Amino acid sequence: MRSLAFLLIFHLLVSPTIVKSLSLPHPPSNGTLDPKQAMALESLNIPTSKDPCAQPSFHNATLCDAAKPFRHLISLRLANCSSYLSLSFTALKSLSTLQSLSLLNCPVAPIRLPVDLALSLTSFTCVNSLRKLSGVWLSNLLNLTDLAVSDVNVKASGPFVILARMTKLKTLTISNANLTGSLPGHLHSNLTHIDFSNNRLKGSIPPSITMLDSLQVLNLSSNSLAGEMPPSIGDLISLKNLSLASNSFSGSIPDSISALPSLIHLDLSSNQLNGTIPKFISHMKSLKHLNLANNNLHGVVPFNLSFIKRLEVFKVGGNSNLCYNHSVVSSKLKLGISPCDKFGMPVTPPSKDSSADDSSDDDYDEGDGEGSRHKKEHHHGPNKFVLGVAIALSSIVFLIVFLILCSKCCR
Ligand SMILES: *[C@@H]1O[C@H](CO)[C@@H](O)[C@H](O)[C@H]1NC(C)=O
Ligand SMILES: *[C@@H]1O[C@H](CO)[C@@H](O)[C@H](O)[C@H]1NC(C)=O
Ligand SMILES: *[C@@H]1O[C@H](CO)[C@@H](O)[C@H](O)[C@H]1NC(C)=O
Ligand SMILES: *[C@@H]1O[C@H](CO)[C@@H](O)[C@H](O)[C@H]1NC(C)=O
Ligand SMILES: *[C@@H]1O[C@H](CO)[C@@H](O)[C@H](O)[C@H]1NC(C)=O
Ligand SMILES: *[C@@H]1O[C@H](CO)[C@@H](O)[C@H](O)[C@H]1NC(C)=O
Ligand SMILES: *[C@@H]1O[C@H](CO)[C@@H](O)[C@H](O)[C@H]1NC(C)=O
Ligand SMILES: *[C@@H]1O[C@H](CO)[C@@H](O)[C@H](O)[C@H]1NC(C)=O
Ligand SMILES: *[C@@H]1O[C@H](CO)[C@@H](O)[C@H](O)[C@H]1NC(C)=O
Ligand SMILES: *[C@@H]1O[C@H](CO)[C@@H](O)[C@H](O)[C@H]1NC(C)=O
Ligand SMILES: *[C@@H]1O[C@H](CO)[C@@H](O)[C@H](O)[C@H]1NC(C)=O
Repeated sequence: MRSLAFLLIFHLLVSPTIVKSLSLPHPPSNGTLDPKQAMALESLNIPTSKDPCAQPSFHNATLCDAAKPFRHLISLRLANCSSYLSLSFTALKSLSTLQSLSLLNCPVAPIRLPVDLALSLTSFTCVNSLRKLSGVWLSNLLNLTDLAVSDVNVKASGPFVILARMTKLKTLTISNANLTGSLPGHLHSNLTHIDFSNNRLKGSIPPSITMLDSLQVLNLSSNSLAGEMPPSIGDLISLKNLSLASNSFSGSIPDSISALPSLIHLDLSSNQLNGTIPKFISHMKSLKHLNLANNNLHGVVPFNLSFIKRLEVFKVGGNSNLCYNHSVVSSKLKLGISPCDKFGMPVTPPSKDSSADDSSDDDYDEGDGEGSRHKKEHHHGPNKFVLGVAIALSSIVFLIVFLILCSKCCR
């Protein structure tokens, strides 16, 4: 692999176009790309026959500064690379002016990062690339403001190893990365975005997380986190999206959650939350998406029809002790829970009678599991009936034919 890269670079060195640009007598009015960097680009299979600094560049792969006489690359995006591509140390060293580096679907071998490049980067994205990453490798990117790693294995004893020295971080995504360990007790107060979804994180949410008053997105879904939600969750005043779905959180939903003024998307589904649903959630003006399904919540759903209709997504199914007040919420909504009796307890699961009642209104559009099951049963009945009639008719015909034949024989 290395000799191939060497051959490539050698070839570039003697290739006439490069030689010509190196020996240009007068610098062009707009600076051209530093020839060393042009060579590095060629080694990464990015064509330089057209000026890589001209915008928009080939697949938006490159962006340059305006330095003279030579311009320098400040952003590089590699997508859909061949797995044979080699990100050589030499090439990367000459790219140490980069502030942003993105690798998307580039399953190339892991790279050794020159220190200059590591310190120059403010944004690093790695999606399904480099086969695997280590926490220590990532931790050297000290000046990052944006880190996004997904669909790649990240080996670290915990997020702390990666983040401890990244004091400028604003957005952080490490998702679908099999990351282990627990949430750091201290995070930098300028973070606006934390996405640790789909990992193997354990432990509980440190109460200190509620000091991140710039935080807009907190996604901890699909981990093995447990414990109770911090009662001070209402202090995250900038929060827009919160997902704690598919973990093992227990205890009740803190009332303070309804103090989050900008919350749009709240997903607490598939945990072991108990207690009742805080009724003040219905005062949250921005809320559009509310998923509380598959928990152990009990009591009466404290919402009226107009609140539920305002939401784009509302799910409460899979809470066996939760019920709705049928004089407040129509049974046509198909919430996947039972109506309440007069004591606020769920009435016993719907009998055949109630499913027959439902069959009169066919025009509900909530594509819920519950609803579609009813629809199927509903189609089942007539089919059975038709089959029965057909069998009865054909047996009568058979009997008549048999009798006629019989009477002919006996004659
Ligand atoms: C030089 O840069 C200016 C402004 O950045 C642009 O309008 C012009 O087209 C460029 N000229 C060449 C030859 O690239
Ligand atoms: C390049 O970026 C511009 C502006 O961000 C966008 O409009 C264009 O579609 C992109 N082109 C490609 C090939 O991705
Ligand atoms: C990479 O491949 C995906 C899917 O095959 C395609 O949607 C995307 O546009 C490609 N990106 C580039 C920069 O070629
Ligand atoms: C990156 O951080 C280091 C040390 O933290 C600092 O010395 C250096 O100037 C920074 N580099 C850039 C390009 O900001
Ligand atoms: C995470 O681990 C599982 C099981 O070991 C594996 O199948 C999966 O590919 C890993 N995910 C990534 C992104 O490497
Ligand atoms: C947070 O950002 C502000 C301005 O964006 C900056 O002044 C401050 O130093 C940053 N704080 C930390 C802890 O980085
Ligand atoms: C959290 O992440 C998951 C998986 O990455 C995604 O499907 C979900 O929409 C995200 N939720 C929020 C509230 O951002
Ligand atoms: C809710 O769960 C917590 C923790 O698991 C437990 O201590 C508490 O007794 C439960 N409360 C109810 C009403 O079930
Ligand atoms: C936040 O939630 C909104 C609304 O549900 C959604 O469109 C958006 O993609 C989410 N943002 C992130 C970063 O997950
Ligand atoms: C429904 O509940 C909301 C919020 O609690 C309230 O503002 C509204 O007046 C109620 N609507 C009806 C028809 O009761
Ligand atoms: C259901 O709503 C009606 C009308 O608001 C109220 O009188 C009744 O007490 C409620 N039932 C339960 C079980 O909360």
